[in-house]
Amino acid sequence: MNKLEYLEKRKSVRNYLNKPLSDADKREVRSLLEAPHPMGDVPGFELVFVEDGERASIKLEGFAGYSGVMIPAPHYVAVFSEPGILNARKAAYAVEDVIFRLMTMGIGTCWISVKDSYSAKVAMGWGDKKELLAFVALGYPKEDNYFKRLFGQLKRPLVNPLKEGYVGLDLETKEDIATREDTSSFVYLDRWGVTTDFDELERRGIDRVYYYLKYAPSWGNRQPWKFIVEGDDIILCIHKNPAMSEINQHLDAGIAMYYLKLAMQEHGLSGNWNFRHIEKDYGIPEDYWIIGRFSL
Ligand SMILES: Cc1cc2nc3c(=O)[nH]c(=O)nc-3n(C[C@H](O)[C@H](O)[C@H](O)COP(=O)(O)O)c2cc1C
Repeated sequence: MNKLEYLEKRKSVRNYLNKPLSDADKREVRSLLEAPHPMGDVPGFELVFVEDGERASIKLEGFAGYSGVMIPAPHYVAVFSEPGILNARKAAYAVEDVIFRLMTMGIGTCWISVKDSYSAKVAMGWGDKKELLAFVALGYPKEDNYFKRLFGQLKRPLVNPLKEGYVGLDLETKEDIATREDTSSFVYLDRWGVTTDFDELERRGIDRVYYYLKYAPSWGNRQPWKFIVEGDDIILCIHKNPAMSEINQHLDAGIAMYYLKLAMQEHGLSGNWNFRHIEKDYGIPEDYWIIGRFSL
């Protein structure tokens, strides 16, 4: 199976077997966590493996998870960086790379947002560490052959228009798969609001890129992305949502950056993200962050 098929089938795991990862898998996880950041140096970036998930989930109750409700898991990864929105985006980019690799090893994961970084750090005895951005739950999925069955049956994409400002625990799902927005509604051509359809994206050879991108995880499954295609460049914008923390908005951004790059790569188009020179007036509304530009 190629990476794009994995992307289409990826999903968060919230029910884990009550057993730790094997020693071999733990070694592999630790080496992924210690790998250099794919975007170079990110100040304060650190991924910490939490061995005793049961104890941690008790300590963290109220401080992490939607509405402060932790997802019980055999282990967690804690994500740190120096404060700053660019650091948060880059951290999420690296973490999603780890998550993607873990999935291909049969290890289930779920992002867990941090409600109160300071209290969570104190509870865990991490007073000397940088800002705690998020956790990732990890373990073997409870269902037998979870990934095998998941990847065995490719379903048609589920299309459901996003409700603006979607928040909360009540995630929209169909047959336990989070529903997804129609691709053409989040891709604009040259300027904000100039919608396109698959034919135009197909003509430019990038239709499938967006098709896969919509499977990226996001906080509350809000799917906050908009892309402006300008020649060979792609501008990423993320919806500002006052109901959620800025950190989570920029984690969503970093995840989208990771999957856009991966989808482009799998289509033989290599390029890079940059964060400068995007001041040009694309008519982007004030309630959107301009995140960056992907250039071939
Ligand atoms: C930054 C971020 C924070 C998240 N926080 C939580 C969380 O605290 N609790 C939870 O159950 N899921 C959390 N999620 C998982 C999303 O709800 C999930 O990715 C989304 O609903 C889409 O479902 P899928 O991952 O199964 O495709 C988070 C995801 C992201 C990207």
